[in-house]
Amino acid sequence: GVKAVILAGGSSIGTRFRPLSIDTPKVLFPIAGKPLLTHIIDNLVSQLGGDLEEVFLISFFKDSTPFDEYVDEIKRIYPDLKVSILIEPYPLGTGGGLNYFRKQILGSSGDHKILLIHGDVICNYPFKEMIQFYEKNKADVAILGIDPLLLVDGYQNLSDTPASFKYYDKERIFTNFGTIISNKETSKIIHYVEKPKTSSFAQFQDTTYSININGGVYVFNDTVFNLLEKAQEVKSAKSNLLDYDLTNDASKSNILSFELDVFKILPSEKNIKFLNFKSNSLWYQLKTPIFALLANSFFLKQNHLKSSLANVRSPIQVSDDVIIPHDSLMGPNVSIGKNVKLGKGIRLKNCIIADDVIIDDHTIISNAIVSKGVKIGKWCRIEGTVNTPTVNKDISLFNSDNYLKLINNIVVLCQDTIVGHQVFVYNSIVLPHKELKNDVKYEIVM
Ligand code: GDD
Ligand code: GTP
Repeated sequence: GVKAVILAGGSSIGTRFRPLSIDTPKVLFPIAGKPLLTHIIDNLVSQLGGDLEEVFLISFFKDSTPFDEYVDEIKRIYPDLKVSILIEPYPLGTGGGLNYFRKQILGSSGDHKILLIHGDVICNYPFKEMIQFYEKNKADVAILGIDPLLLVDGYQNLSDTPASFKYYDKERIFTNFGTIISNKETSKIIHYVEKPKTSSFAQFQDTTYSININGGVYVFNDTVFNLLEKAQEVKSAKSNLLDYDLTNDASKSNILSFELDVFKILPSEKNIKFLNFKSNSLWYQLKTPIFALLANSFFLKQNHLKSSLANVRSPIQVSDDVIIPHDSLMGPNVSIGKNVKLGKGIRLKNCIIADDVIIDDHTIISNAIVSKGVKIGKWCRIEGTVNTPTVNKDISLFNSDNYLKLINNIVVLCQDTIVGHQVFVYNSIVLPHKELKNDVKYEIVM
């Protein structure tokens, strides 16, 4: 059987996903009707069936309540599934948690098959195919390799985004990800570089080799645990020698990097079969808020979520208890949570509306994320422009990189915000519990 391990948290606790992760851990934020983690677990269950032995979530957090509640919820949905959370004493890195919880994860001795998934990746999750590839080729380690060009294309997934819109610079794409160089015919990985400083892999761009991006999904056997343990032994020996201050996180020897302690050295290990499983699916990571919108339209499209109502443009997903007024226009790429009240004559497009939101009459919302409990008045315009280049006069006022990264020309209304009647919110982020009485444009309202 297969044991699935989902990495769901680290030292940075989703800084880039702030402000949405203030109230909800980012992997629990609702996308197309359910948390990202549930999309992953649903795929594990439906694709692997009885072959799925157990699911582990590895995380580090100060307050475990949201995750405890989440696991209870999953147990209600899948009463027969074994799910547990393994909580790290401090963030152990992408490899440290596996080693630290080795006994719990592996259980009895024997042949293990581990499927590791980064909790923040969005794709078609080809778990079954990947495991079949791993078995058929008698691999020790297989990694999901993403086509870098698909990664660029993925940003066209918001319906009115023109082809010219590129979130990533093609030239710099590799510098953000693990980069895999493999033999086209044998899929054997000959080289792995974690977030290379340059993208100059021209020497490998030929008929023999292909270059892919580490997609954050791996299948492996005990080989990996042995390498992690070895890496940790080396590290503790070193830190004892140097008499590091163990109160300092960086010197804690339990911290391991899957990429550096395993992948980097695998290509040179003669007895280990390290293969690249190439995917042809669009792929995203939930890093900044715009990725929640991209993921939303991706999942809606993938699940063919349709509605028979005349005033609804698919794909769309609406909770059963929500009433869609007949004089409104909804979609495409809209998901609406539970207990949402919609007024007459409203227009929603490319947006996530979380639970318990109230939207009053004649309001327009597009390219926006509306969090739980938000109340929006009549005749409001809540608008992100997404495709408009950020070279705008207004924006020069906020000419900081961080601002641009966060905003990506969408609107984010955080939990329990109140927007008054006739207020225009344009390409802005509004933090929780704010009350907006006046228009905001290119602003972060704190
Ligand atoms: N539990 C736990 N503890 N999880 C962690 C920790 C930790 O200390 N550190 C990271 N993670 C989880 C993150 O939550 C995320 O799901 C995943 O591991 C990836 O870690 P990041 O730190 O977010 O790395 P990244 O996304 O910049 O890059 C990694 O993932 C890419 C694909 O998803 C690398 O593996 C890249 O090579 C890869 O392309
Ligand atoms: P940045 O690099 O800072 O953008 O983070 P990241 O995208 O690498 O985020 P990562 O996936 O490493 O961590 C985010 C996750 O950490 C959240 O989704 C939670 O699962 C988890 N987490 C850990 N501690 C906390 C906490 O105190 N609060 C919240 N909200 N989440 C936490």
